[in-house]
Amino acid sequence: MQVDVAFTPAALPRAALAGATALVIDVLRASTTMVTALAHGCLEMLPVAEVDEARQRARGLPGALLAGERGGDPPPGFDLGNSPLEFTPERVAARPIVFTTSNGTRALLAVRPAVAVGVAGLVNLSAAVDWALGQARDLVVVCAGELGSRCLEDETCAGLLVDQLLDREPGAAATAAAAAAAAGARPYAKDLARLAHDAPHARHLAARGRGADVVACLALDTFTLVPRYRADVDKVVSP
Ligand code: MLT
Repeated sequence: MQVDVAFTPAALPRAALAGATALVIDVLRASTTMVTALAHGCLEMLPVAEVDEARQRARGLPGALLAGERGGDPPPGFDLGNSPLEFTPERVAARPIVFTTSNGTRALLAVRPAVAVGVAGLVNLSAAVDWALGQARDLVVVCAGELGSRCLEDETCAGLLVDQLLDREPGAAATAAAAAAAAGARPYAKDLARLAHDAPHARHLAARGRGADVVACLALDTFTLVPRYRADVDKVVSP
């Protein structure tokens, strides 16, 4: 088994996905929101690249909630933003959600050619490792990044995931990028809260009054669910 890390979706050679498992990471906040929504009973999430398309898809889907962000805030007319704290069982249970975000949903759509796709964040890190090991094929960990640039919280999550996977499966081989991600993550392993200061997007969210989101997104292993993106039906679902 080989484990690779793409620091942005654009850095991902298409061929890398053939025959592989993919884990998509957008710690702040799309991955965390998808994990939370599905753990709280949401029926399914439809990842959509553009806001207008999301509005159109939601209109055709009875009972659907429209959720996501641009610039961190919900676009006009949306039912929910991209704060995991909004996706309570009361709000989302048994509802389909059409979901569009600046980076996370686009990263998911970029890995469609993989054999199996999971959604990972810090909140379900150990469960994501378990799931990827169970898939028993090469793994590509894809960081959503920030508008085409690398971002610290996704890379840290990817690196911690690589280290945990190598501990559990010593026969696995890390690519140079995976080894670099693991080395970069180690200083944060025992102090994830430091990311709230060190990661520019975390500081940006806190400055906009979304510090509670950052705290929720940096919590380790608060969920055991690993959402799956099923490209055949274009939906993110619970296992
Ligand atoms: C994204 O997908 O770009 C993020 O989740 C942005 C955000 O923090 O809402």
